[in-house]
Amino acid sequence: MRLILLGPPGAGKGTQAARLVQQYGIVQLSTGDMLRAAVAAGTPVGLKAKDIMASGGLVPDEVVIGIISDRIEQSDAANGFILDGFPRTVPQAEALDRLLKDKRIGLDAVVELRVNESALLARVETRVAEMRERGEEPRADDNAEALSKRLSAYRAQTEPLVEYYSEKRKLLTVDGMMTIDEVTREIGRILGALGQANDKKAAKT
Ligand code: AP5
Repeated sequence: MRLILLGPPGAGKGTQAARLVQQYGIVQLSTGDMLRAAVAAGTPVGLKAKDIMASGGLVPDEVVIGIISDRIEQSDAANGFILDGFPRTVPQAEALDRLLKDKRIGLDAVVELRVNESALLARVETRVAEMRERGEEPRADDNAEALSKRLSAYRAQTEPLVEYYSEKRKLLTVDGMMTIDEVTREIGRILGALGQANDKKAAKT
């Protein structure tokens, strides 16, 4: 299974990816997590990304494309993966297409989580409160100002991917306003239906 999870900041991509990892035995490739680890470790990539991420902007395409290209080559990604937070721009999607073509592998589906913008700030605020309760430092970009910039970046640069993958007949849209469990069930249902349709197609050929 090779999937992309698409959705605005706070839509539930990371939450659902963690569940899909368990369900399908594949790896979660989150560019946000990889970049935060690079920032924490103070690597050259982290130094480049730190201020951009804190302000809610997008890290340059060539940086994230480089990270994902290296990560997909690792052996644990051979059985399948869920891309969480990548691609986020059309050039990133095109780079991914080239990468998968070179490896002669296909993408099964792009799952878009649709969530009303008014719910996103509340979710991010809840995450900040939960992290504080656990004694963890909240994310530098989990505040109203950075969230507003993250949303603008999503609308301007990531939302065009809905059409990009719709044209490729890869897009599956899920109502992300349901509870976490309901969203998980719905993703399971549509991926199950996709698997059955693919099996039927394969049986005919
Ligand atoms: P990234 O880490 O990818 O952040 P994001 O896309 O802004 O998404 P979040 O992690 O905030 O939300 P999520 O959709 O994963 O939701 P979650 O499950 O956590 O990226 C951070 C930054 O890194 C970017 O801004 C950019 O600077 C940089 N970056 C990363 N990738 C890049 C790329 N490809 N190109 C360029 N730059 C890149 O849930 C959020 C909260 O809501 C949680 O508390 C959760 O418990 C709760 N929740 C989840 N689902 C539900 C539900 N159904 N109902 C109620 N609450 C829910």
